[in-house]
Amino acid sequence: MPQILELNAVSRAYGSRLALDDVSLALEPGELAFLVGPSGAGKSTLLKLINREIRPTSGEVWVDGMAAHTMKASRVSELRRRVGVVFQDFKLLPRLTAKENVAFGLQVGDLRVSDDEAAERALDALDAVGLGDRGDSFPHQLSGGQQQRVALARAVVAQPSLLIADEPTGNLDVETSWEMMDLFADIAASGTAVLIATHNVEIVRRLQRRVITLVQGRLVRDQPAGLTGRMAWLASS
Ligand SMILES: Nc1ncnc2c1ncn2[C@@H]1O[C@H](COP(=O)(O)OP(=O)(O)OP(=O)(O)O)[C@@H](O)[C@H]1O
Ligand SMILES: [Mg+2]
Repeated sequence: MPQILELNAVSRAYGSRLALDDVSLALEPGELAFLVGPSGAGKSTLLKLINREIRPTSGEVWVDGMAAHTMKASRVSELRRRVGVVFQDFKLLPRLTAKENVAFGLQVGDLRVSDDEAAERALDALDAVGLGDRGDSFPHQLSGGQQQRVALARAVVAQPSLLIADEPTGNLDVETSWEMMDLFADIAASGTAVLIATHNVEIVRRLQRRVITLVQGRLVRDQPAGLTGRMAWLASS
């Protein structure tokens, strides 16, 4: 199967500090993996390489067949159309409604999408995250969990091949965090590869998905999906 994401011997330095050190990994379509490790381990740096917010110091980053490591700025929008992103702090536009936020996500990536089509697809995407009736609400009228679901709808409305999320449940309560994880699992089941950086040990332990562990920029463990809860706990402790 062709890989959706492939990192080959990727290193990334900030000045003299090595944030990622010789990391190689691959993700298949429909695979959901967690990216864990202590603060400063390089999780966010790895995700930023994937949507080419930054470029590696050395090594290759392939995203859905595109070389993000050598990509010119003029082609970045093409890459971003294939990569949905969810952040810890939602990053919704406060003056736009939920529906407009999602539609904006679609049109900013592809100017050929008409307003009508964008509005229709935005509503469908909101429906899929259980917010079909809140399209006209502004972010401040929504709970944190609802705002994160809008952000998720925005991230997947263009049907990306890869979804990356940096600490997506960091600002959510326990129950809402589990609801978000159900949605991530749905998205993976539809064929999108999903990579989630998280500190939420409980979620990682219970979901028994693949777990990629970084420590001081190095990939120290890549644990396949399906270990029992107890074994996963032992392996990650
Ligand atoms: N823009 C930057 N300039 C300089 N150093 C940076 C920059 N961004 C990150 N770093 C350094 O790179 C290393 C990895 O940081 P990164 O943000 O990727 O860690 P993280 O695993 O996401 O941590 P956290 O769990 O706290 O979010 C850290 O030592 C950090 O200080
Ligand atoms: Mg981080």
